[in-house]
Amino acid sequence: MNTTPPTIAVFDAYGTLFDVHSAVARLADTVGPDAGRISELWRQKQLEYTWTRSLMQRYADFWQVTEEALDHALASFGRRDEAVRRALLDAYQKLDAYPDVREALDGYRRQGLRVAVFSNATTAMLSAALNAAGLDDLVDTVYSVHALEIFKPDVRVYAAAAKAFGVAPSSIAFHSSNGWDAAGAASCGWRALWINRAGRPQEYPWMHVPAVPDLGQALAHVTTATVPIFGAIRNAERKDA
Ligand code: LAC
Repeated sequence: MNTTPPTIAVFDAYGTLFDVHSAVARLADTVGPDAGRISELWRQKQLEYTWTRSLMQRYADFWQVTEEALDHALASFGRRDEAVRRALLDAYQKLDAYPDVREALDGYRRQGLRVAVFSNATTAMLSAALNAAGLDDLVDTVYSVHALEIFKPDVRVYAAAAKAFGVAPSSIAFHSSNGWDAAGAASCGWRALWINRAGRPQEYPWMHVPAVPDLGQALAHVTTATVPIFGAIRNAERKDA
């Protein structure tokens, strides 16, 4: 086990820092009785489209993918309505941050770690979201997959992000509420923590990514360097990575 403490705390954005369901929740009365299910389907399709587009080599930016997923979700529940669509997309630009985020980011900073965001979203989406949530002052750097035109969990995006942060993969403490994203990072030699906000059963057990229920509990894991690296480090060292 590598016991060298990490030097940078990296956070996935959607679902980890920002509550993706807060857009629909804010407009629940307007969206109607299927609001909860529409929100779940919106998120599910948004992620699915990132994976399918990557596999098909048909990149479109995360905002377009988000729009396409919303169109499908609204149509699935017979709720195709331009005003509702517009209002939901506007709300998605200013999602609520989870209540534990501010204190957690500040805690990492006080421990001397740099704080970074690493996301599928464009930098424009991330700037708007960080700004709306008042988190700008706590984030040192933002890395978007956009320049690579491929989404997580392709190994190339983790390798490129580590390079952009200027650190070895093993110096990164990564936090994601998306189990598949945490597993992808671990597979590239990052120290990954699954922020299992929804209390879901374990996923990707073969990657041995530890789980904590929220960001408040993540700091203790990371600063005591107890997050092991189990991932297949060779992936991050591949020539094409
Ligand atoms: C992101 C997606 C995975 O922020 O939520 O990258």
